[in-house]
Amino acid sequence: MIPIQGNRVDLAPVAEAFGKVILLGEHSVVYGYPALAAGLPQGLRLTAEPLPDSASPIELSIPAWGLDIDLRPGTHHPVAMAAIAVLSACRGPRQGWRIHGETRLPSRAGLGSSAALTVALARLAAPEATLEETIEASMIGERIFHGQPSGLDSAVAARGGLVRFVRGEAPVTLDADIDLPLLILPTGVPRSTGVQVAKVRERRDRLPALIGPVLDALGAAVALGEEAIIANDLNRLGEIMKVSHELLSALDVSAPALDRVVGLAHTHGSPGAKLTGAGGGGCAIAIPPEDPRALLDACAAEGIEPLRVDIRVDRAPETAAEETENEAAR
Ligand code: MEV
Repeated sequence: MIPIQGNRVDLAPVAEAFGKVILLGEHSVVYGYPALAAGLPQGLRLTAEPLPDSASPIELSIPAWGLDIDLRPGTHHPVAMAAIAVLSACRGPRQGWRIHGETRLPSRAGLGSSAALTVALARLAAPEATLEETIEASMIGERIFHGQPSGLDSAVAARGGLVRFVRGEAPVTLDADIDLPLLILPTGVPRSTGVQVAKVRERRDRLPALIGPVLDALGAAVALGEEAIIANDLNRLGEIMKVSHELLSALDVSAPALDRVVGLAHTHGSPGAKLTGAGGGGCAIAIPPEDPRALLDACAAEGIEPLRVDIRVDRAPETAAEETENEAAR
């Protein structure tokens, strides 16, 4: 149980959470291997205001995600179920509020939209909670969305920064001076994290002797990738990302649209690209080529709108989470 005191009738006026991009280690992280992920500052901002009728159900709208729902007890809407669960875990109000969300994150695209929502809701209801309590409350909603998630998305949505995450352990901010440019390439194909995670588990259960070594290799890619990031060797990191995409394909979590954008990135000079997040659709990430114009033109010709993200971390371990400065511009 989350040790948050009392039953609040109020919500904080504003709360925010990061989006996330997984650099390396998705899926294998579910089985205890490490993963590397970065917070995206263009996450989610929720604002709350009381409704004139304090007995009305809570209204939740996030226009960018086409979401406009009432949080009524007994609902079967997954977002409403998750939101109610998070608010009740934080002893938040059950009625009488309007919550509005603004975001540049696409939903269901592997960029941590559900974790951003559950973290920001926990912060609205329990602004005084510790980071760990907020992450725990977020996980209650995440389990409704995704089954048994590793906790990586909630940790990054709450903390931001560039972190190494191992299931069940406190995330560690990378101790390095990092300036890591990335292109996020959305396929526009929606997918479900829970379905992809279940698919991997089934394949691992059917073919343990084959899939076990693939998971081992994905774990090894994280260790090598971390070394390449710390050495600021983007070509080596790119090659590790390329191999990771192939390993993730062996888990059956790539998709034709993902292979297409990853191929496009490689054809147009990217040192390396891979799917990010659960796969099956959603987004790929690519290290941009020195001159990205040909790749950007090729994306435009295919109707893909890349998002440029510069992940910057300064060497200051004790304050790195606060000092992480990520900038994103289309
Ligand atoms: C989803 O963003 C990441 C996965 O590794 C699932 C998880 O960590 O829970 C696919």
